[in-house]
Amino acid sequence: MTEKTFYIETFGCQMNAHDSEKVVGTLVHSGYAQVESPEAAGLVLYNTCSIRDKAEQKVFHRLDQFKRAAGKGKIFAVIGCVAQQEGERIFEKAPHVSLVAGSASYTKLPEMLVQLEAGNRRVTGLSLDSGEAFDTPFTRRDNPHRAYITIIEGCDKSCAYCVVPFTRGPERSRTSESVMREAAELAGAGYTEVQLLGQNVNSYRDPSPAGWDFATLLDRVGSIPGLRRVRFTTSHPRDFVKEIVEVIDENPVLCNHVHLPVQSGSSSVLERMQRLYTRGEYMRRIEWMKKARRNISITSDIIVGFPGETEADFQATLGLIEEVEYDSLFAFKYSQRPNTSALDMEDKILEEEKTRRIQILLEKQRAIQIRRNSDLIGTVEEVHVEGRNDALGQWIGRTSQNRTLNFTHREAGGEPLTGKYLPVRVTRAGPNSLVGESTMSVV
Ligand code: 5AD
Ligand code: SF4
Repeated sequence: MTEKTFYIETFGCQMNAHDSEKVVGTLVHSGYAQVESPEAAGLVLYNTCSIRDKAEQKVFHRLDQFKRAAGKGKIFAVIGCVAQQEGERIFEKAPHVSLVAGSASYTKLPEMLVQLEAGNRRVTGLSLDSGEAFDTPFTRRDNPHRAYITIIEGCDKSCAYCVVPFTRGPERSRTSESVMREAAELAGAGYTEVQLLGQNVNSYRDPSPAGWDFATLLDRVGSIPGLRRVRFTTSHPRDFVKEIVEVIDENPVLCNHVHLPVQSGSSSVLERMQRLYTRGEYMRRIEWMKKARRNISITSDIIVGFPGETEADFQATLGLIEEVEYDSLFAFKYSQRPNTSALDMEDKILEEEKTRRIQILLEKQRAIQIRRNSDLIGTVEEVHVEGRNDALGQWIGRTSQNRTLNFTHREAGGEPLTGKYLPVRVTRAGPNSLVGESTMSVV
């Protein structure tokens, strides 16, 4: 029998990256070997993202590229968010695709593979009511030091612009016991940093009788021996409670970084987005963090050009980013998504205007970041070393605040530092990263 091989390409967020790790583990367990190019693979999978139109188009572009290869026995699978959103329409758009499956169906992946192997060329997994999180013992992690752990899947909010509730289904939390077991196993296997994942981690609710909320889970994971850093993403301001800041303050293993997407600085836009908080309520959460004992880094997402966003609304957003002084910001031009309630809204903003706004926003944010990063010159930060940039002769590290800090080391070329933690003195600052030097020995 010829060897079963697969190639997978992943688009989108960290949830998708981690789903791919689980899919890879499941495929390997089913007897498939991973290869490095689509040309060399019998089965080609695209784990897709549909958050914005541009992301969605990428997969159809890829499928087009390889259309001819399908005739030669190569099998194509579209999985993830575009699969869930478009469903069987994908077979019409790209008839050479044989498997279409959303993330809520990955528990059935082994059966779907059996069907593919039996020659079925229209295999689907599109049910959203799996009722369970995709919890597999076969995850193949890409990074030997930092690991993702899913704690909650899906989303029960209904933000007017967002496709996620349709692509990932309703919220399902894992039991605290299974999260704790996975985290302890990872620590036992040598991982020192874990990142708790969910579309909205703050609404985590332990389904078992223990009934832990997110702050409790975070604190307990941060107390597992061997773990040195615990991160989490993404937070929703509506469900972000003060206890989260309190546990971060008390437990140094919990990273002092919170990604708290605001989307807009205008309460009237927030209301039309159905974000369930006002600007004032959001700012209260920022206050909790600014008043914390630890220096918590705050990052955010912003959408410009939501239908009906006036110049005054946009100015309110500019005012908010100046007030918060984010350490980093992802900004997006509003993109119309299928099924979402904003589809029918009037006063669409022209593309050129969205471009103008996003440029102004990013320029302002760049200045803020230069300022904030420069403030760190002269301080000593602990980094977790991620790798080395040989061309620059620098090691690449990340601080607890999630800043990239590239540094030189006295014993350069000596011991491999990747995966280690060490203190680094910051010597220079740019808008997106810091540069420093370490003269200390490795801890
Ligand atoms: N258009 C533009 N940006 C979007 N996001 C989500 N949906 C859309 C959309 N329809 C952004 C939000 C979210 C981030 C992951 O993507 O800012 O926080
Ligand atoms: Fe993209 Fe959202 Fe799906 Fe992540 S959950 S892959 S961001 S559409």
